[in-house]
Amino acid sequence: MSDNTVKYTLHERDLPRYWYNVQADLPEPLPPALHPVTMKPLTPADLAPLFPMELIKQEVSTERWIEIPDEVRDIYRLWRPTSLFRARRLEKFLDTPAKIFYKYEGVSPPGSHKPNTAVAQAYYNKKEGVRRIATETGAGQWGSALAFAGACFGVEIKVYMVGVSYYQKPYRRIMMEAWGANCVPSPSPDTNIGRQMLAADPDCPGSLGLAISEAVEDTMSRDDTHYSLGSVLNHVLLHQTINGLEAKKLMEQAGEYPDIVIGCVGGGSNAAGLFLPFVKDKLDGTRPNLRIINVEPHSCPTLTKGPHVYDYGDSAKMAPILKMYSLGHGFMPPPIHAGGLRYHGMAPIICHLQKLGYTEARAVHQLETFEAGITFARTEGILSAPETMHAIRAVIDEALKCRESGEAKTILFNHSGHGHVDMAAYDAYLSGKLQDYEYPREKIEESLADLPKVG
Ligand SMILES: Cc1ncc(COP(=O)(O)O)c(C=O)c1O
Repeated sequence: MSDNTVKYTLHERDLPRYWYNVQADLPEPLPPALHPVTMKPLTPADLAPLFPMELIKQEVSTERWIEIPDEVRDIYRLWRPTSLFRARRLEKFLDTPAKIFYKYEGVSPPGSHKPNTAVAQAYYNKKEGVRRIATETGAGQWGSALAFAGACFGVEIKVYMVGVSYYQKPYRRIMMEAWGANCVPSPSPDTNIGRQMLAADPDCPGSLGLAISEAVEDTMSRDDTHYSLGSVLNHVLLHQTINGLEAKKLMEQAGEYPDIVIGCVGGGSNAAGLFLPFVKDKLDGTRPNLRIINVEPHSCPTLTKGPHVYDYGDSAKMAPILKMYSLGHGFMPPPIHAGGLRYHGMAPIICHLQKLGYTEARAVHQLETFEAGITFARTEGILSAPETMHAIRAVIDEALKCRESGEAKTILFNHSGHGHVDMAAYDAYLSGKLQDYEYPREKIEESLADLPKVG
């Protein structure tokens, strides 16, 4: 009997008990994060005003497996384990011998992978007695995930949402409010840096770097508040590995191992969450030919055009300095609809792995991502988030290469979220109003001139 399985599932009892920490297996340790003022390696005491101690420990831990607290697993069980799908209808449409698999994270209450870390972060803050958390959000996915997690543990949430997305995506703000959070457009009049930006340009579209500055300033100006970041940092990628660990078990169930793992990258958390448990096999030499492709927008080409340097995590130079590919902390990317991919930097873990040659990067244009997203909707049914469409574009391109070469490669990608709250973007595309943005070379060169002078 031929196997025509579409959906591979795990039982709740198979929910992983540990997150995987790649820092245990890196051939060279990560370069240290630096203090934004002293430029010396950060100490736990430097980070204590921002994060609970458990997360600070996870940030620098080199233990391979870190136990997931039962309270966090209990919330995960509301939607996890998530299923692995074989995209048979897409394969047929593309007429490709490639086998395409995707792990679908859009089934979480906020509709993306983001609650995998939001729930853990809200939990550790609550445990340390923190009453309130401030954060930034791009497309609103992260803000809504943290709002949901705050509601789970009774923690108050304040969200600075990148202005352009706040107005493009009002439903994300309403979701946050439904979960009890307070969301304002960034730049906002609530902080010094926000007021300065508004005075210089009342129509400033905002950026993730700027929204981070506002959330950090908010945190530093109050005693009852911690800060939370939805991507980039090591502990965030750690929490996301629950997805890759599930995917590994499910690929075994399907009797397959991927030749290529693909994810879209903003700060890098969903892609890394899927690929880190697989990159482990490349690091230890068991799967030397595994390819990992991180996909980003041409309009914000961090991994494909940025230098590997020390840069500030935010525009106002208040957040830690990280070693990463960067377009410069002052870079304001064009207002593409994939708001979650408009960050000037990238997770140091992803940058380190790329620098060492374990992963590769690719940039795609906005219009071709929507074309891929529509093909996916008309074959597999899911209306994907604009961020996720970047991964889908690369998947389709790889599958078409297989059609040319006749190779039956196994491709696995992370479907990071649905686009039900992105209908304005779909409307713009379907009515021919969406445009591509060229690589903004001059703006990037200008912002790279202001990198920190690290000794
Ligand atoms: C659906 C979705 N996918 C991907 C991303 C990109 O973030 P990251 O690279 O941290 O996964 C976002 C960010 O908001 C998102 O909402």
